[in-house]
Amino acid sequence: MPSAKIAPSILSSDFSQLAVECKRMVEDGADWLHMGHVLADVMDGHFVPNITIGAPIIKSVRKHVDTFLDCHLMVTDPDKWVEDFAKAGASMYTFHIEAAGEDSKALIDKIHEHGMRAGVAVKPKTPIETVFPIADVMDMCLVMTVEPGFGGQKFMEKCIEKVKVLREKFPNLDIEVDGGLGLDNIDIAANAGANVIVAGTSIFGSPNPADTISKLRASVET
Ligand code: DX5
Ligand code: ZN
Repeated sequence: MPSAKIAPSILSSDFSQLAVECKRMVEDGADWLHMGHVLADVMDGHFVPNITIGAPIIKSVRKHVDTFLDCHLMVTDPDKWVEDFAKAGASMYTFHIEAAGEDSKALIDKIHEHGMRAGVAVKPKTPIETVFPIADVMDMCLVMTVEPGFGGQKFMEKCIEKVKVLREKFPNLDIEVDGGLGLDNIDIAANAGANVIVAGTSIFGSPNPADTISKLRASVET
């Protein structure tokens, strides 16, 4: 079984205690914090039917943790937020290929110029071939395993085929999966080649998140 990073999705945390929740996740063994929904699954109300807060929250959290902040932007105009997120202390800036289209290469360059790693996300219905032309310049591909927008949805196993295709073609690329992941399916994702696992509900909804993170990790450790 391959090893993988575990990235709790902050969407499922208690927003009123955000810094405490983030610190707790780090103490509980999180490798990355997936700044999902409340922080940086930053939805601008067009790309998905929801709205959350962006860079100011990253800035606040950054004062409390040194951890890698994995920011997933579900926005129609990802170019617009690069500078704000960089200044706020984001580590990874992941945008949707459906939103950036032909501007993706230039956007990746801009993200790099601002000192962040660049991730490219694909929704369940988007063919994985769309990222091939930029695979050599992006740092990570985020393969969505639910329709973006909300935590707590059911894992779409058919999306894992994309992970397999990507891993075969790009052995060194970071591949993240996001949506509906937990102890019952993490092995499917990791065996297909995913090496960053986002998990919201399965971690925050468990009675003992530290134990869940360590079980998730154990199930993907070589
Ligand atoms: C989905 C988000 C995920 C979400 C995952 O739109 O991108 O990060 O928070 O939550 P779970 O693990 O509950 O599906
Ligand atoms: Zn996400």
